Amino acid sequence: MTSTQTVSTQGAHSLNAPDITVSARALFGIDTDLEVPAFSTGSAYVPDIDPSYKFDPDTTLAILAGFAFNRRVMIQGYHGTGKSTHIEQVAARLNWPCIRVNLDSHISRIDLIGKDAIVLQDGKQVTAFREGILPWALQSPVAIVFDEYDAGRPDVMFVIQRVLEVEGKLTLLDQNKVIRPHPFFRLFATANTIGLGDTTGLYHGTQQINQGQMDRWSIVATLNYLSAETETSIVLAKLPDYQTEAGKKTVEAMVALADLTRAALSPGIFPPSCRRAR
Ligand SMILES: Nc1ncnc2c1ncn2[C@@H]1O[C@H](COP(=O)(O)OP(=O)(O)O)[C@@H](O)[C@H]1O
Ligand SMILES: [Mg+2]
Repeated sequence: MTSTQTVSTQGAHSLNAPDITVSARALFGIDTDLEVPAFSTGSAYVPDIDPSYKFDPDTTLAILAGFAFNRRVMIQGYHGTGKSTHIEQVAARLNWPCIRVNLDSHISRIDLIGKDAIVLQDGKQVTAFREGILPWALQSPVAIVFDEYDAGRPDVMFVIQRVLEVEGKLTLLDQNKVIRPHPFFRLFATANTIGLGDTTGLYHGTQQINQGQMDRWSIVATLNYLSAETETSIVLAKLPDYQTEAGKKTVEAMVALADLTRAALSPGIFPPSCRRAR
């Protein structure tokens, strides 16, 4: 016997809404009186905390505005500057489930929305609609991060456009179903360009983004390379063996060299990022 029904993935969090508020000053060491809603317990979808993470004040504030006030926040900047991990690390400290979706050119509409699939139920084969990541996240207290937003295919971007508005409902045409966003669903994106394409040649494969869509992002924050001092402290926090007088000098010299290379930023000279510290 064949029947059509909907198969959903498991719940994102045992709590349906944040149950505490936390001080951004205490949690992230930034100069603000902002109080942010948070969850008192974690879940399998909450990213792991990187204890050595250094929060950039402006980027962190933009991300916190996204979580606290339901703003759509895009972080733009060079590669390896901490765009994706900033969002993840803020979510980790708020115990907010957070999933990253890499918008590479293979992600299609049905990956996001869902598709009919044959599943086994009570030993019988049934055709069931298996929800994609977007309907699932939209109905949960989940922050979804569209990584490499400017690499997404235009048909996929129009699916996202519908949910960019705060009350943006998602219509599943083949299901006759309209999905209202969960009040604690959050949407973020990271991109190397700001939707105008890339003229430097550094970000081959990025697309221009429809400006109607860029307009729907409430906050676009730029995160480029951090100061030499901050970058040195990040590298030192990650490499405890270098936490000596001589080690610090070596790291400072590495960061100075990286800065010089970035200053010469031009096609053909590949700017090193914090990722190389690993
Ligand atoms: N502020 C920071 N504090 C600690 N580590 C950082 C910071 N920024 C970047 N990193 C490290 O650099 C690497 C690249 O960061 P990522 O967020 O993936 O960059 P992007 O998304 O901008 O390309 C990660 O391994 C991350 O841990
Ligand atoms: Mg990234």
